[in-house]
Order: sequence, then structure tokens, then C-alpha cells
Amino acid sequence: MSSTVVNARAAAVVSPEADPSTLSNYREFQLSHTTLNLKVSWSQKILDGKVDFIIRARDASQTSQLILDTSYLKIKSIKIDDRPVANYTLSERDTVFGSKLSIPYPATTKESQVSIEYATTKACTALQWLEPAQTEGKQAPYLFSQCQAIHARSLFPCFDTPSVKSPYKFIVDSEHASVASGNPIEPIEGQSLTETVTVQEIPIPSYLVAIASGDLAKAPIGPRSHVYSEPPSLNACQHEFCADTEGFIQAAEKIVFPYDWKTYNVLVLPPSFPYGGMENPNITFATPTLISGDRQNVAVIAHELAHSWSGNLVTNCSWEHFWLNEGWCVYLERRIIGAVHGELHRHLGAIIGWHDLEESIKSMPPTSRDAYSRLIVDLKDSSDPDDAFSTVPYEKGFNLLFYLENLLGGKPVFDPFIPYYFSKYRTKSLDSYEFKATLYEYFANVEGGENFVAKLDSVDWDTWFYTPGMPPITPNFDSTLADNCFALADRWNAVDSTKTDISEFVSADIEGWTSTQIGIFLDKLSASSMSSATVLAMNDIYHITKSATNAEVISRWYRLAVEARVESQYELLAEFLSTVGRMKFVRPGYRLLKDVDAKLAKNTFEKNRDFYHPICRAMVEKDLA
Ligand code: BES
Ligand code: ZN
Repeated sequence: MSSTVVNARAAAVVSPEADPSTLSNYREFQLSHTTLNLKVSWSQKILDGKVDFIIRARDASQTSQLILDTSYLKIKSIKIDDRPVANYTLSERDTVFGSKLSIPYPATTKESQVSIEYATTKACTALQWLEPAQTEGKQAPYLFSQCQAIHARSLFPCFDTPSVKSPYKFIVDSEHASVASGNPIEPIEGQSLTETVTVQEIPIPSYLVAIASGDLAKAPIGPRSHVYSEPPSLNACQHEFCADTEGFIQAAEKIVFPYDWKTYNVLVLPPSFPYGGMENPNITFATPTLISGDRQNVAVIAHELAHSWSGNLVTNCSWEHFWLNEGWCVYLERRIIGAVHGELHRHLGAIIGWHDLEESIKSMPPTSRDAYSRLIVDLKDSSDPDDAFSTVPYEKGFNLLFYLENLLGGKPVFDPFIPYYFSKYRTKSLDSYEFKATLYEYFANVEGGENFVAKLDSVDWDTWFYTPGMPPITPNFDSTLADNCFALADRWNAVDSTKTDISEFVSADIEGWTSTQIGIFLDKLSASSMSSATVLAMNDIYHITKSATNAEVISRWYRLAVEARVESQYELLAEFLSTVGRMKFVRPGYRLLKDVDAKLAKNTFEKNRDFYHPICRAMVEKDLA
């Protein structure tokens, strides 16, 4: 693997860096408020929208146009301070970034109101529309959005960059119940019964704008939290989250600082939701694969909650610095789990994460490995942030922070830096260089500062930031909770070569294990040492496929089963791929199936094309090509 440092930043560049994934001229404006009015047309499957920006040019002599991002939008009319603007232009579409909307802008630095009437189109990549038949209750259609990373521009014209933040008012007009990424306000007199008004007082970037509408019910899961879902699964959703949510919030508040957003709610979506969770402010969107009945997936809630500080308050300035959102978030997620369940569980999460990172880097084709296994990626060549997405920002980012924590003297020394950093950048967007400078700034000024600075100087920053592949430091995780899993896996891996009697193994071997422990065990089993018969015998004894309601466990089982060529499992994997739309499972699942039965993979995809979310559909299509 190449160890050359490419893309090291020239010292003169100004922070935060410019975002290469927007076509807008966001740097020329200051945005102080956004009102987004969306009327749902269920029959046409479009939104009729109106967006109002309160905006100010930074330098009137430099600015003659306002350029916004759009993607597959139909622009109907534009007004600036109530005066119609006729000579705006919508540029030809760039396949990745969409179409620039260029609006002539008056030479003034006074605030003005820019109002745009528009509609979304069938090609919108931010929305998925479900027929009643595709929902759980079968009563009503369903609609949800997913804007991260650069799909907000297909929901409304905007500065589609995490560098621009605005407070929002959302007005959603729908025949069905609606939610949006803010706190709902009580209907005012005379307001239409179909309107839901939601306010986000804290400035947020466009990628955190979210709406959903359908047959939604809600139930409490804590003193400041509700879960929303379709009525049939509401009780199960409440049961899944009610034991942990408030404890997680309080643990996070102790690590960072009090929760700013007033309420923390979760919306459990239909199975085609393409992610495990999405940290939409006030209302985390979650995959129904979390509802396994055993509360074994709540780390995803800890993760999305942790974004309330990392990502939603303190935000990466562009998707090149995505690790600032996700690496920090995984770090906080594991600190929360450590605070609630004990430090050993933090380390267990880190161990499975390290394995995921190895697998993820191994599975990248050489060119994407070179580009996307760096902590800071280079997206200036117009690459799509969706293509750059991987485990790397999550786990390499976590490992950098874990390494720094230990290098600087452990939690007691590192911990005060956490609120310092999150306060300094609260409601701002930053790059990795500002993170590093803040680290130096904080530790230079505490007692014994010179020592800390010397330690920070010993960090191989260029390798951490820019070198592809695994991190330069292999960490020392406490493997107490993983050792039994490794030992049991070693015994199974030796069954065929040593002709061990299978009756040595009993179901009690894994009794009381968490799904993470079962996952670590399955990850360690090697299809090159186990015959397909041994793999099946293992499943018979431990009932992995029978009792596992947990997609993390099931997907790992299929990895092993397919690699060991257990042919009876291929159809079952295809069935599994017809029930989940979470890309984390769908994409590797199709890759596995493609290797052993390309026709089955293709047919399964074609059969489920309409079930998958547009983003997932596009990614799997690329994977299968
Ligand atoms: N923000 C991400 C999801 C995301 C990332 C959506 C990039 C679109 C583009 C979310 O917080 C996340 O990381 N979800 C994970 C779960 C988590 C426990 C690692 C997922 O979906 O698997
Ligand atoms: Zn995340």
C-alpha cells in the first residue's frame, strides 16, 4: 500500500476550507432565516414548495448574483423583497451536483427576502414515496426525506453545504400526520387542519432538513422523548427505546454539556429507509431493523443522539472533513455506552469497529482505497460524497480520538477538552485543521502545557490525515468481553482440520452473549477453514438464523454462509434482501450474492427495485454493474 502523503494542505489556505460539493456562491452571503413551505401532493408524488430566505450579501460591490443549488426542481417564480425577478437562469444539469439556479441580486448589503416558488419532480433523490400497500398499516401512503449528504438540493433550492446554517420554520401541508426536523408549535387560530408547523431555532445546515408524513402515531419513551411510528408497531418501538433513551441523554450531557434541542424524538421508518439512523434534529430517523425486541440495537440511538453535539451543533464544513461529524460521533457514542454499561462495553464496540474498518478497507477496489481510505478525503475532482461514504471516517476518526485520549493521559486529562471544543464551535462549521489547532490551543494553556504540546507534536498528523489504509497506530483495546468470542471461534475454525467431535459444542457456549459478542464470534469464523457442513452444524447448535431477529447478526451469518458456499442459504439471503433497505446490509448482501449467483442477485434486485430508496437503488445498481 502506498504510504505517500498526497493532498497535504498548503499552509496558506484559509479555514474553514471551501466546500467543493456545492455549486452555490454561499461564501458571498449571510443567511439569517429560512421558511420552508411544503404542500404534499400525494396523487402526483411531488411537493409544491415555497422557500423564503432572509439573506444579506457580505460585500455589495462583489455580488451581483445569488447562486443556489437545485437538483431536479421545477422553478415557478422568484421574488426579491416582493418584486418579481424574471431573468433568473437554471443551468444545465451536472450529473453529481445538479443545476445552478442563478438569480440577479441587487447591489445592497441590506437584508432582503428571497422567495422562490417551485415544485419537486419525480426524479427527486431526497424523497421516497410509498404506496399504502408498501406500509405496515396499509391504510395510507407514506413519504420521507433523506438529505445527507447532498440531496437537500432536490427538496428545495438552497445553499446545499454544511458550511451554511440557518434557523428554520417548516410548514408541511399534508392530508396525513407530518413531522419535520424541529419542535412542533401549537396550531394557531384559523390555521388549516392539514398544516403542521415546526420550528428549528438553532441554526442547522441544509442536510439536516427532514420531513416525513403518513399514518404516524407517537408514544413517550422518556421525559423529553417520544417515538413515532405507524400504529401497528408503536408498542414494540416504545418497548425497544424506553429503557435507554433518557439515560443516554443524561450520560451525553455529562460528557459534553446540556442538551440544547429541548426534545429528542425517534421516528421509526418503513424498511426501505436506507440508513441505520439519521440524526435529523429533534427527530432521529431510524430503520425498523432496530426493533428486534431485545434492545440490542440501542447503540444506534446513542450514536444518533451524540450527533446532537457532533454534527448538528458542531459541523464539518464540507464532506471532505466528514470524520469530524462521524468519528467524533462514534467516539461519543462509545463514551455513552461506556458510561451506561461499563468501560468494557466501550472497548467491545471499538474492537468490532476495528474489524469493520479492516474489512471495509480490504473490500475497496484499489482506486477507491487510495482515495477514500484517508481520514480527509479529496472531493475536489467532483466526486459524489455518496461514493466516498465508508466506515473509514467513522472508525479511523474514532481511533484518532481514542489515540489522542490515551496519548494525552487518559479520560481525566482529555475530558475537559470535549466541552471546550464543542462550545467553541457550537452552531459553527469547521475543518480538520481548526480541530487540530483547537486541540493545541486547549492543551498549551492547561497546567503542564509544554508537555502536552510535546505529545501533540509527536503525533504523525500527516499520516493520520492523508495516508490511505489502516491507522498508523494499532490500539490496545481491552478484549475481556471479546476473548470468549475469539476462543470459541478458534475452536470452530479448527473443527475440520483436527476432526473435532461436534458434540463438544453446546448452545450454552453463547448463552448471555450480546449481539455484539455474537457478531465478533461470527466475524472471526473463517470460511476458508470451515466446511459448509460445519458452518451448518454451528448454526444448528446456536440457532443463529432461528433466533436472530437482529440484522447485525443475520447479515454476518450470511457473510459466513455464502463464503463457505452453503448453497441452501442463497435463496434465504435473497429473501433477506427483499425485506431490508438499509444500505449497510443491502450493499454487502448483493456483493456476496453476485459472487456466487449473479443471476439470483440481478433478479432479486429487479424484483425489489421499487422497494428500495432512490439512493440505495443507485448504489446497488453501481455495485452490480
Ligand atoms: N449520518 C449518518 C447517516 C448518513 C451518513 C446518511 C452519510 C447519509 C450520508 C448516521 O448518523 C449514521 O452514521 N448511521 C449509521 C449508524 C451508526 C450507529 C454508525 C448507519 O446508518 O448505519
Ligand atoms: Zn453518524
